[in-house]
Amino acid sequence: MSFIDLRSDTVTHPTKPMIEAINNAELGDDGWADDPTVNKLQDMAADITGKQAALFVPSGTMGNLVSVITHCQRGQEIIVGDQSHLYLYEYAGASAFGGISLRQVANQNDGTLEISEVEAAIRPMAERFPTTSLVSIENTHNRCNGAVLNPIYTQKISDMSHSKGAKVHLDGARIFNASVALGVDVKDLVAPVDSLTFCFSKGLSCPAGSIICGDSEFINRARHTRNALGGGMRQVGILAAAAIVALNDMVDRLAEDHANASRLAYGLANIRGISIDPEDIYTNIVYFGIENGSVPEFLKNLRDKGVLAQHPYGSRVRMVTHYGISQGDIDHTLDMVKSCI
Ligand SMILES: Cc1ncc(COP(=O)(O)O)c(C=O)c1O
Repeated sequence: MSFIDLRSDTVTHPTKPMIEAINNAELGDDGWADDPTVNKLQDMAADITGKQAALFVPSGTMGNLVSVITHCQRGQEIIVGDQSHLYLYEYAGASAFGGISLRQVANQNDGTLEISEVEAAIRPMAERFPTTSLVSIENTHNRCNGAVLNPIYTQKISDMSHSKGAKVHLDGARIFNASVALGVDVKDLVAPVDSLTFCFSKGLSCPAGSIICGDSEFINRARHTRNALGGGMRQVGILAAAAIVALNDMVDRLAEDHANASRLAYGLANIRGISIDPEDIYTNIVYFGIENGSVPEFLKNLRDKGVLAQHPYGSRVRMVTHYGISQGDIDHTLDMVKSCI
């Protein structure tokens, strides 16, 4: 049985041009920083984000972990949104491997952190307290309906954090979705932050890989941290080759995923028994509630009809649009939801 798989945009497979690029990739040993394809990708990512340098890493989770450990010393703290991926889904790696505590501030529905709350939470170097050395934000925001942070907000929270002596990291796993949704260059979205991570393995359809961008001194130290965590790979140009294709070919088409997510959300809003505000859908991530019955049973029935969705932490259902999902798939999904609800 073939499924319409809406569990995540991570289920995407590499495109034909990616496979061709993988086959033809010029390779070296990235342990010696001499894989030419990785170096080309890192230069491209630095250029696209307007940062001095970049570092290829196996996953978004490792990108965030390496960034946090590189910014903070043991016994320091980082401020995170209470709905952030870094806090909820990354195994408390910053605490486990970096000795860093994660202090939560509530995420607003639009993915932002109230700047005054972050300001009040930042603790300077003083007796008794852990020093707050980093504030982490997320754009787009996975748990907040794929909401986008605009450049003005990012500038404001960064200015405030810097004025208090804290650096800012951006979990930009889906930063290109934000860029396409807002019609704003990625450079302008990330200019104020000290570091960011973005992923090739989500809407950009690569089989694996993420990248950290920041200034050269930070990236040199991040390379050390990455390698210490076992994230140094060798002929990893085979992955970087796919990522280069992704940057060239797969960014503009994210608009299709956003249009499909919107079609899905408006369609769901017309089904009795589903709760969703389609105006709250910003990019490619759609969450909704079901008014009767259990989510696991609903998902099982949907699966029997060939549609896969996710039940993440919490009571909602999540569907994510991506490359390979057509408008027809969305319409079929809506029919299947109607028959299961
Ligand atoms: C916002 C966000 N950050 C980070 C990650 C982690 O990425 P990875 O699965 O590559 O570790 C994800 C994964 O879905 C994510 O949604």
